[in-house]
Amino acid sequence: MRLEAKNISFKYSSNGKSILKDVSMHIDEGERVGIVGPSGYGKSTLAKLMAGYLTPMSGSVLLDGKPLRGKGVCPVQLIYQHPEKAINPRWKMGRVLEESGFMNEELLSRLGIEKQWLTRFPRELSGGELQRFCVARSLFEGTRFLIADEMSTMLDVITQAQLWNVVLNEAEKRNMGLIVVTHNQHLAERVCTRIIDLSLINNEVHSQSEIAEVCL
Ligand SMILES: Nc1ncnc2c1ncn2[C@@H]1O[C@H](COP(=O)(O)OP(=O)(O)O)[C@@H](O)[C@H]1O
Ligand SMILES: [Mg+2]
Repeated sequence: MRLEAKNISFKYSSNGKSILKDVSMHIDEGERVGIVGPSGYGKSTLAKLMAGYLTPMSGSVLLDGKPLRGKGVCPVQLIYQHPEKAINPRWKMGRVLEESGFMNEELLSRLGIEKQWLTRFPRELSGGELQRFCVARSLFEGTRFLIADEMSTMLDVITQAQLWNVVLNEAEKRNMGLIVVTHNQHLAERVCTRIIDLSLINNEVHSQSEIAEVCL
């Protein structure tokens, strides 16, 4: 199975600035591909396009040659940097998991999720605790590709290690494809089988002042 972006271009508004221009990439099942590049270069935008959360202005995102249907029980799952933005604040965590069709107790325990957290609202959990739920939810049995967008950037090192262990282990066991979006080259080198520098495949030219700005 292959997930691919074919010549995609994207702007957030029709008269706004162009973020991605004619970008193509692919990932096969079992691969772990890093997408690196300075902040502001469109990594998260590309992640959302590949997961079907955004639609390209031109070009297409294909799963096994067919257009991707995003959201819901999509075989391509996205984990964001900010878990609080990904979870319905009015639902208790047990319902959040149920809605995703996910209830694998063994995996919940490997992710360090405590039973008592299931009866809490998102605001009653820390960022690290919430991110464990986002990882759990993204690993429902139909997931074929997982996109981790700065998944561990906001977390302490112990939580980071625990979540990466589970994700890498599940990816290998199920032969999933894993896209690791990060500004951390070191993490990408440790985790990935292949690394793509977005600034090299994005044909949108960033101005010198913008480059200076993102390099600060
Ligand atoms: N929802 C949005 N509306 C308008 N512009 C956005 C939105 N999200 C991101 N951008 C802009 O798109 C560009 C790329 O952002 P992003 O994809 O988040 O980059 P990265 O993840 O590489 O830091 C930035 O200039 C950012 O300001
Ligand atoms: Mg980003």
